[in-house]
Amino acid sequence: MRKPVIAGNWKMYKTVAETVDFVEKIKPVAAQADHCEVIVAPPFTALDAAADAADGSRVAVAAQNCHWDTEGAHTGEISTGMLCDAGCTHVIIGHSERRHDCGETDEQVNKKVKAALAAGLTPIVCVGETLAEREKGKTEQVLERQFTEGLAGLTPADFSRIIIAYEPVWAIGTGRTATPEMAAEAHGFLRGLARRQFGESEADGVRILYGGSVKPDNIGGLMAQEEIDGALVGGASLKVDSFRALVNYPRG
Ligand code: PGA
Repeated sequence: MRKPVIAGNWKMYKTVAETVDFVEKIKPVAAQADHCEVIVAPPFTALDAAADAADGSRVAVAAQNCHWDTEGAHTGEISTGMLCDAGCTHVIIGHSERRHDCGETDEQVNKKVKAALAAGLTPIVCVGETLAEREKGKTEQVLERQFTEGLAGLTPADFSRIIIAYEPVWAIGTGRTATPEMAAEAHGFLRGLARRQFGESEADGVRILYGGSVKPDNIGGLMAQEEIDGALVGGASLKVDSFRALVNYPRG
């Protein structure tokens, strides 16, 4: 069985003090939430404090990005080794905001995924189509390109260590979420690609999270879909009450 993952992507929000306060409040929630894994992704400046506060608890800490080199002249970048040093266990890679704001390519996503795996981090690899791509009927083509190029050269053993997040760009921060059926269809397509590229048991085992305007009032419908193994949540992960409700999503 695939253990669900509820992950909060805080983007460019929260100071160190706000991060520590949040983690302290969510630790007892995570302690009672055996049904899922709980991850928070603070900004770089708060990772170390988040990991300290989360130490020994069921809250895992993810970074929102990394560089592929172990070190070097890359102003403004962070290496996977530095993320491990700060106490991270996961790293979000290829988020659509990085693809669109920073021109991140599938090739760069691929190098980052390999660097994260080499450092012992769990990559949370984001894929998803824009509204224009969906309206032109190109959703599957885009997902296939992001999946095959982003994960090129991984062995089945590597693949079994990653988490995928399907985040349709038109649903991120817009309040417009994909219906559970639309999301499940995309997840099924991605799982099919996983089967073809990596094998049956790897495809059955990989967690595919949905992201894009997930809220306490719509997570139940999404999680009721067999294909949906969790959520990567932006806006609704920023408040303790709302994140607690997401972690404790309605279960049948
Ligand atoms: P949102 O963001 O929940 O605010 O739509 C999701 C994400 O970008 O991961």
